[in-house]
Amino acid sequence: MKSYHTDTSMQAEVFTFYNLLMNDLPLNPVAAVTHPDPYPYYAELVTHKPIYYDAALGLWIATSAEAIEAVLTSELCRVRPASEPIPKALLGSRAADIFGALVRMTDGPSHGPRKQAVSTSLGSLVPEQVSEQSQHWAKFLIDEIKPQADPTRFMDFAFRMPVYVVADLLGVLAEQLAEVAVFVKSFVACFSPLSDHVQLEAGKVAAAQLFDLMRAQLATQPAGGLLTHLALGFKPEEAEIATANAIGFLFQSYEATAGLIGNSLMMLATQREVYQQIKADPSHLRLAIHEVSRYDPSIQNTRRFLAQSGVVAGQAMKEGEAVLVVLAAANRDPAANSEPALFKLDRPVRKSFTFGLGRHACPGETLAVTIAEAAVGQLLATGFDPEVLADGVTYRSSVNARVPLWTTA
Ligand code: HEM
Repeated sequence: MKSYHTDTSMQAEVFTFYNLLMNDLPLNPVAAVTHPDPYPYYAELVTHKPIYYDAALGLWIATSAEAIEAVLTSELCRVRPASEPIPKALLGSRAADIFGALVRMTDGPSHGPRKQAVSTSLGSLVPEQVSEQSQHWAKFLIDEIKPQADPTRFMDFAFRMPVYVVADLLGVLAEQLAEVAVFVKSFVACFSPLSDHVQLEAGKVAAAQLFDLMRAQLATQPAGGLLTHLALGFKPEEAEIATANAIGFLFQSYEATAGLIGNSLMMLATQREVYQQIKADPSHLRLAIHEVSRYDPSIQNTRRFLAQSGVVAGQAMKEGEAVLVVLAAANRDPAANSEPALFKLDRPVRKSFTFGLGRHACPGETLAVTIAEAAVGQLLATGFDPEVLADGVTYRSSVNARVPLWTTA
């Protein structure tokens, strides 16, 4: 067993020295999420600190492919701390009921059946239909928002895309989609540790509105849609859990897919040869979006909590400790991808950790890529050149999601 204290030896000193030289490096892996370019820092962590304890953050940090696989497949690690299965700030609200029922936030015997239900329902989607619906909503939102006219509008477009497509798949009426997008925006904010009291309370109200809407939807749903498939995976008395997980689809896809759209636009703005290749042959776009999700992922990290003391990734960890799993760093591990710092459309093998792995691996990857492909593809089809987005980008405040914002016209 390796102790993390050995990491404070020469290697770590060299690392600190490097940090001093490159004083624009992120302060830590949480600050890295919204840093203009966190990737040289991640590469250093993968090489010199594949797993270590950050005393200032009070977190174990896993960065290499090997360490991340070990954490995400460990029987000792859980998605929520045992002392706080539901965030205290949400207790007593509909947001807490939804949170507690989500497959994403559940471990133990209830996780398997819930995972089966969400995966089977998403697996029932017909790719051509989803692609058609995504193209339809991309055209609709481009007409309505006209993001090409003003870069500050891009992220409104990117955030509304996953809501419109997923809500439509869940059977929500077209005339309700704009309202659902407002509810989802508010609801997602109440889960962020960076939200203030006002955002938290607004999120709780939105949670109740979404729940009422989706429960009514479930009751009147004609057979065959995504929601019906999802409900079939639950017992009749578990209708509230099914409803919560339908809302989970909206919640899980929201920031992550908006970020994938935004980061794909950023890639086209900066990797001009890739832009030219796609312009000449739009069928390369899907592959490019897969590579964006490895190279500049919208979800940079996730967390695990020790249910009991034991050895994880070669380190002695204690019950109650938390691990920050830096998925975006592992994507740049040379042991997982050759020449990881290069953006390559035609990687013979692409190993991406962006959608997680193990029990809690994301079942929505294909859907997310289809939505992003439609959003970016329809923008390019209008003749828009993303080069104008190369300057003026910042990243939305977040501890895990890398979502670009263009704040000036
Ligand atoms: C670019 C878009 C997306 C990214 C990067 C992403 C990433 C992830 C990651 C990293 C996890 C695992 C978290 C962990 O293990 O701690 C996850 C779980 C999950 N994702 Fe996604 N996701 C995306 C889009 C979607 C979409 C479109 C859906 C469905 C509509 C979805 C549904 C889920 C669900 C239900 C889980 C929980 C699975 C479980 O806990 O067993 N995701 N996602």
